[in-house]
Amino acid sequence: MPAHADGFATRAVHAGSRPDKANGATTTPIYASAGFAYETAAELEDVFCGRTPGHIYSRISNPTVAAYEERLAAIENGRGAIATGSGMAAIATVIMALTRAGDRIVSNAGLFGGTRRLFSSLMSRYNLDVVYIDLDEMGSLEAAINDRTRFVYLEAIGNPKLDVPDIPAAAAQSHARGIPLVVDSTLTTPFLLDAAALDVDLVLHSATKFISGHGNCIGGALIDTGRFDWGTIADPDMQHAVSKAGREPAFLYTARQLVVQSLGNLASPFDAYLQSQGIETLALRMERHCSNALSLARTLEAHSAVAAVNYPGLASSPWHETAKRLYRGYYGALLTVRLGSRERAFEFIDALRLPKQIANLGDCKTLVIHPESTIYHDHSAEAREAAGAYDDMVRVSVGIETEADLVADFLQALNRLSR
Ligand SMILES: Cc1ncc(COP(=O)(O)O)c(C=O)c1O
Repeated sequence: MPAHADGFATRAVHAGSRPDKANGATTTPIYASAGFAYETAAELEDVFCGRTPGHIYSRISNPTVAAYEERLAAIENGRGAIATGSGMAAIATVIMALTRAGDRIVSNAGLFGGTRRLFSSLMSRYNLDVVYIDLDEMGSLEAAINDRTRFVYLEAIGNPKLDVPDIPAAAAQSHARGIPLVVDSTLTTPFLLDAAALDVDLVLHSATKFISGHGNCIGGALIDTGRFDWGTIADPDMQHAVSKAGREPAFLYTARQLVVQSLGNLASPFDAYLQSQGIETLALRMERHCSNALSLARTLEAHSAVAAVNYPGLASSPWHETAKRLYRGYYGALLTVRLGSRERAFEFIDALRLPKQIANLGDCKTLVIHPESTIYHDHSAEAREAAGAYDDMVRVSVGIETEADLVADFLQALNRLSR
């Protein structure tokens, strides 16, 4: 397991840095090259066969992307990483690397709508069995795992339910049955969630969000924390990877050589560059996101026009104690507010001046959305209920603006709501 001596912010700034020796550029150059040339036929053969390291073709790997992947692995204290073209691509890569038709995934019910669509609509076409459980009842996890279960999947903070599963308990139950725990850490980022320390095996992100930080690109990240022994997985492709690359790198080998190479879902060098830059300020941004969110949540909860506020940082959240135990006293940037009716929710959004109404989160700017009529518009009533996407609920991704300006804007919007 890699041991990183440096602190989180130091790794975020320095890891994977490949300054350009020729010109003295201080950021890793964007290697905009489809393929990579070698002098002799024997040299290219050696790279193809894995005898010497090197890049072949940017659908498989690329120097800019590799530098970003090194940084991702460093901030997650992981064994290695793969940068994908989107968060959905990272999730799809895990599914394709670990499952076959007829296998089962056990997942928490309150999932991001896109993940739920991937699991329930697309993957059901390939006869993948996804069982949704309520992770507040940990016994249900044990009961849902059968002999064909290939991984357990959780969101570290559910989007938009904002529930916080007990990750170490889920890891213990998964490992007792010999299967890996996969966690979507998009809302927590490694600044809140030390995935390796909490026994998570694979951690993934929509890097579109806090990792990039500026709402300027789409990306995903998949990191192997190094905790799982892939040699115990009987699947022939994993066993082939073990024989080619060894037990430890076997998952990343399968994910890159079998899945990413076949699907073509690697991040582009330009997006990898942007996301790598984003990581440099992740610690600073997350501190401000979290303090602004806590302040705004408290303000909203105290206002008479608000029916309910959900934020893991509030003592009123059923998941407050779990978040406090797992996330070092930080609670993330997302909160949801219920206004009593769909009409009032729309009125509230329209009355806000600073936030943008956008189907995204994790931007420096505060963003709002009405999930029920947008992200969940074509989901079943059951999926909406499981995700907490109520018709009177507005989701707020709190940005890093001046706290007083944010609070003032939300207060003026609430004060204008019809009674
Ligand atoms: C928690 C979570 N996971 C995954 C995704 C998918 O990421 P992307 O939009 O980068 O494909 C999102 C997107 O909103 C998300 O919120």
